[in-house]
Amino acid sequence: MAFIKWDMSYSVGVKMIDAQHQKLFALINDFYNSVKMKTENLEPVDSALQDLFSYIDFHFKTEEKYFEEFGYEKTEEHKKQHKFYEDKIKDLNERYQKTKNEQEISEEIINFIKDWISNHIKISDKEYKICFNEHGLV
Ligand SMILES: [Fe+2]
Ligand SMILES: [Fe+2]
Repeated sequence: MAFIKWDMSYSVGVKMIDAQHQKLFALINDFYNSVKMKTENLEPVDSALQDLFSYIDFHFKTEEKYFEEFGYEKTEEHKKQHKFYEDKIKDLNERYQKTKNEQEISEEIINFIKDWISNHIKISDKEYKICFNEHGLV
């Protein structure tokens, strides 16, 4: 079952970035489903979570690479937001590793992701559309 479904309301007007966001949604769904399975073996949850976190890292680096390349005016502001999410992820991951209470921590991760998707993609990511498009990234 899909927990989060990508639709055009999430489009930032840049195909390559939309594809990365879609992949991110798929990894979120994988993680969500692995938690819902509630098996004794935590390995699928662990690996889904690490896959999700490392893709988030890759995705932020992609956006930031273009910010630098295109001299995006809101680079610092946007990078600060990424940093906030990175710190939050680090914190959640550390707590997850320590407690292994996947149910409790997973709910926090799911809530954090929801907040990120509504606020960050729909507001901040959409703001770089004009800049990216002007530099030929459509
Ligand atoms: Fe993004
Ligand atoms: Fe972003």
